[in-house]
Amino acid sequence: MSFQINSFEAYQEAYKKSVDHPEQFWGEIAENFFWKRKWTNVLNWNFTEPDIKWFEGGKLNITENCLDRHIYSQGDKPAIIWEPNDPNEAHRILSYKQLLQKVEQFAHVLKNNNIRKGDRVCIYLPMVPELVIAVLACARIGAIHSVVFGGFSAQSIADRINDANCKLVITSDGGFRGTKVLELKSIVDDALMQCKTVEKVIVLTRTRTPVSMIKGRDVWWEDEIKKVETQGNPSCPAEEMDAEDTLFILYTSGSTGKPKGVVHTTGGYMVYTGYTFSNVFQYQPDEVYFCTADIGWITGHSYIVYGPLSQGATSLLFEGIPTFPDAGRFWDIVDKFKVNILYTAPTAIRSLMVFGDEFVDKYDLSSIKKLGSVGEPINEEAWQWYHDKIGKGKAPIADTWWQTENGGILIAPMAGISPTIPSYAMLPLPGVQPCLMDENGQEIEGNDVSGNLCIKFPWPGMLRTTWGDHERCKQTYFSTYENNYFTGDGCYRSPEGYYRITGRVDDVLNVSGHRIGTAEVENAINMHSDVVESAIVGYPHPVKGQGIYAYVIANHHIDEESTRKDILQTVTRLIGAIAKPDIIQFVNELPKTRSGKIMRRILRKIAENELSSLGDTSTLQDPTVVEAIIQGAEKIR
Ligand code: WT7
Repeated sequence: MSFQINSFEAYQEAYKKSVDHPEQFWGEIAENFFWKRKWTNVLNWNFTEPDIKWFEGGKLNITENCLDRHIYSQGDKPAIIWEPNDPNEAHRILSYKQLLQKVEQFAHVLKNNNIRKGDRVCIYLPMVPELVIAVLACARIGAIHSVVFGGFSAQSIADRINDANCKLVITSDGGFRGTKVLELKSIVDDALMQCKTVEKVIVLTRTRTPVSMIKGRDVWWEDEIKKVETQGNPSCPAEEMDAEDTLFILYTSGSTGKPKGVVHTTGGYMVYTGYTFSNVFQYQPDEVYFCTADIGWITGHSYIVYGPLSQGATSLLFEGIPTFPDAGRFWDIVDKFKVNILYTAPTAIRSLMVFGDEFVDKYDLSSIKKLGSVGEPINEEAWQWYHDKIGKGKAPIADTWWQTENGGILIAPMAGISPTIPSYAMLPLPGVQPCLMDENGQEIEGNDVSGNLCIKFPWPGMLRTTWGDHERCKQTYFSTYENNYFTGDGCYRSPEGYYRITGRVDDVLNVSGHRIGTAEVENAINMHSDVVESAIVGYPHPVKGQGIYAYVIANHHIDEESTRKDILQTVTRLIGAIAKPDIIQFVNELPKTRSGKIMRRILRKIAENELSSLGDTSTLQDPTVVEAIIQGAEKIR
């Protein structure tokens, strides 16, 4: 691709141009994509409303960029390689031609089930090729997809469906995950008891788990495909979309309230994910690229589906987990398909490190040329192991920092081109203008400084709004620092000007690379009938990065052991197993200021076992509360 940067000097040049002439810079990059009609205006923005428009007037369909335009030059190239959960089941390969055909077919299924441009479709599927097909089929006809990660509970699905008024749900009978079978359809059935807007459910056969199919509502994926085949398998022209038409909604947690639906639009998102994929991973035409994320998260949207496919890459999709059948599974896959680029999360690296090198050494990893890391800060030990054991000391590591709201990678080295330092995301990509802010809202200039990370200029992949609640978008991201997008992360800029992300500065946890809002978990725990009040904080966890520590005030008569289990079950029901606290400590009181605010700082210190630095406790209503909590914490440690 002609926008691929191939030297550090070229990066510096591109960066300078992107700051000095952003419209010219992005306009030229956008020329590398297929537009049905060219834009009239590259950028129109203000960060106060906020109101952000990229490539206004441009008309396109992202699936023509991800599929059709590759057909003539490389129709037989694998677009998707799919590796199932069970290594003894056959893998599948879909060429670009085949993927396009399946997307068009399923687009007709959507139309036959009354889905039109602008309708919202909830997708709750395991990591199978049909998930990619469903996502792209929505985009083909202009329906807005809202993918929900398979680990979320019925209640979470219902909340997301209702927030977006989804008309259709696409799911499967079940999903394989290691030795487990997840009963996805049954979870959807539970969710739909609360959802009035859903008219149809399309059910894919995957596990042959018994399911209840409701007459008039539920249809089988395979039957619907047969109907299209009897119609003669017509092609499905791509719906013409405006650059700023919504492509998808993806829910993510914040420090308050329920998860919000981050809205990404079509043109800017396509340009940004394609550009960053090509540059960060320096993708070459014959390379096999393997991103281990789930499509239920933004990493999967941008760097399994849209980014790689818009660049004509071969994207490997893995259904299972890193430790099934054993801790060598990733390396087995790398060896089997001669993977050249591996993009995974620090939590996965740490969880595999502990099993020892024998699981790595069994396999030939010589195909690996480039490595990526995403989701949370990568500690030095994990970085070194990844570098030495997996990259054999020669594959560059791109530690990529970004967020659901960003659409694509913002700060990262370009593999093999930029310098790297363990635990540093290094330098902003072209078009990204980071800055550090102090508590008074002033920008901190110069190097060797720390502050709150903001971005002061728009980039094409950024969120446009939060679904159904623009005010919340404004409050959350654009109000803390005037005229800046606030990331919620703390950051250090080294003497050389390199960026190192130090973690969230708000009440958001990062557990195994999953974003979890403390308020959300507290609300779930407080639903338990014996719970009076609770407070959630994070603490350092050797594998998960952060663990969840819950302080709970419960009614006096409870049996702690069984209530602890009941609380875990409550959280699993209301959010999902990923939000289960690792530690629950029952307390009589929580440390509060005189105005009644919980002092989380103190609770965090106790959870971290940093008792020497508790700080000032004199402003507490009752300072003796702290001593009691410390004693309780010692007992469960
Ligand atoms: C938060 C965003 C889009 C990536 C997947 C997670 C943390 C992400 C890094 C990194 C340090 C990182 C930040 C960010 N984070 N990548 N390379 N180094 N921290 O997306 O669920 O929206 O979470 O993940 O704290 O704010 P997300």
